[in-house]
Parts: sequence; C-alpha cells; structure tokens
Amino acid sequence: MGGTATAMMNLKLHVWRQTSPGSKGKMVTYDATDVSPDMSFLEMLDVVNEVLIEKGEEPIAFDHDCREGICGSCGMMINGIAHGPQGGTTACQLHMRHFRDGDEVYIEPWRSTVFPVIKDLVVDRTAFDRIVSAGGYISVNTGSAPDANEIPVAKTDADVAFDAAACIGCGACVAQCPNGAAQLFTAAKVSHLGILPQGQPERWQRVVDMVEQMESEGFGSCSNHYECEAVCPKEISTDFIARMNRDYLKASLTYR
Ligand code: SF4
Ligand code: FES
Repeated sequence: MGGTATAMMNLKLHVWRQTSPGSKGKMVTYDATDVSPDMSFLEMLDVVNEVLIEKGEEPIAFDHDCREGICGSCGMMINGIAHGPQGGTTACQLHMRHFRDGDEVYIEPWRSTVFPVIKDLVVDRTAFDRIVSAGGYISVNTGSAPDANEIPVAKTDADVAFDAAACIGCGACVAQCPNGAAQLFTAAKVSHLGILPQGQPERWQRVVDMVEQMESEGFGSCSNHYECEAVCPKEISTDFIARMNRDYLKASLTYR
C-alpha cells in the first residue's frame, strides 16, 4: 500500500485534576506524545492515561460512553470552548487533526455550579434528569403497539420536533453560557413533545413544570448571549427557547 506516513504530534496538556467533589482541584501539566491526527480527543486522553497508569499514577477521569456523538456522556471545556473548537461536534467526535504539533491545550470540566465536579472532568448532571422527570414524557395507555400512521403528523411538525429531539443532554449549553442558563436544553426537551400531536394533552402543564424545575435547580437566566447555540454539538436552535417562552407565558396566563 502506498501513501504518506501520518505525522504524529506532541502536545502539552493542562488538565483539571480534582480527587473528589469537596477537594481542592488544580491544573496539572502532561505531555501527550505520538498523537495521531486520526485519534479522537478521547482516544488521545486514553493514551495519556495509559502512560499515567504505567507510572502508577491516577488516570484522568472523564465521562464517555458511545464515542459516536449520540449519548451525551462526554463533554469538557477544551481551550475554553465546550466540546472544543470544532462546531457541531462532541468531544468524542473531535479529531486531533484540528490541533497542531506543539499546541498547548487546556482541559477543564463543565463550568457550572449546578454541575458540581465529581472527579477531574466528570460532573454531576442529574439536574438535567430532574428537569426531564418533571415533564419530558407523554402519558399513554400501555398495550399493543398502535398501528403505523394512526396519528397523522404534519411533515413540517415532524421535522421541527426531530430537530429538538436531537438534543443529547450533554450540558455544553449550560457550560458555555456566561449565566449558566439551561434554557436551550429545557426548550429542546419541552418542544420535541410539545410540537407533536401525541404531546398536546400535557403540553401546557409540561412547559410550566419543566421550566419551574429548571429554575429551582439554580441555573441562571437567559439573556440572549447565544453561546449555547454556538457550542451545541447538535446545533439546536435558540428558536426553541422563544417557542418555550411563548408556551410558558400562554400556559401561565391561561391554564393556571
Ligand atoms: S441543547 Fe445542545 S448543548 Fe445543550 S444539552 Fe442539548 S445537545 Fe447538549
Ligand atoms: S461519548 Fe457519547 S456523545 Fe460523546
């Protein structure tokens, strides 16, 4: 086989290390050597961790699962940007070809007091679970599967609902927002059911319950910085925030 050998890179990493939720953390510098441009960012961390383990040191803890951009587990601030420099891309899908030999890379956990650090780059995102529990469902009778196309859904509604449903719950929107607001996530979860016919019976109660749960968790308020949309790996539009606010206002005025 022909072809050119891939140039390996050496990087200097500055990584947030914190042994437990209550402990004091600090940035620690590591050399990442022989990094292939074809590695993902997480694979690069795996290699660094193998070296740490060989030396008897504690590996860097970070969340991950699917490593294909669909589960929402991964996420870290990479040079101050949630999920790193490549738009529309999770940290697990970010490839090292977007970095250069000799780069210094600062890696920190999500920045949000509502997402406290558990260890190193791993944060507690159960606040998101509580928002979904407050209303991110529809109530249906169990039984056999409904016939296909029993409930007609307009193509335009299906498309918009699908765009909202693409949210993977990663938390990058909160981490990047200067206010630590969770509007983009909550709006995506409110909208993906609120747009579909199946979501109509609980539409108004859902938006009130989910927004109020979001507020009770201590997330900040949205003041239109649009940083959430800029870093969202699924490119969820802030239009959903406007939609959620309209539904919340209508529900508050009409149904309470
Ligand atoms: S809205 Fe985007 S950034 Fe926020 S949790 Fe969903 S996928 Fe992640
Ligand atoms: S590990 Fe699943 S989205 Fe990154």
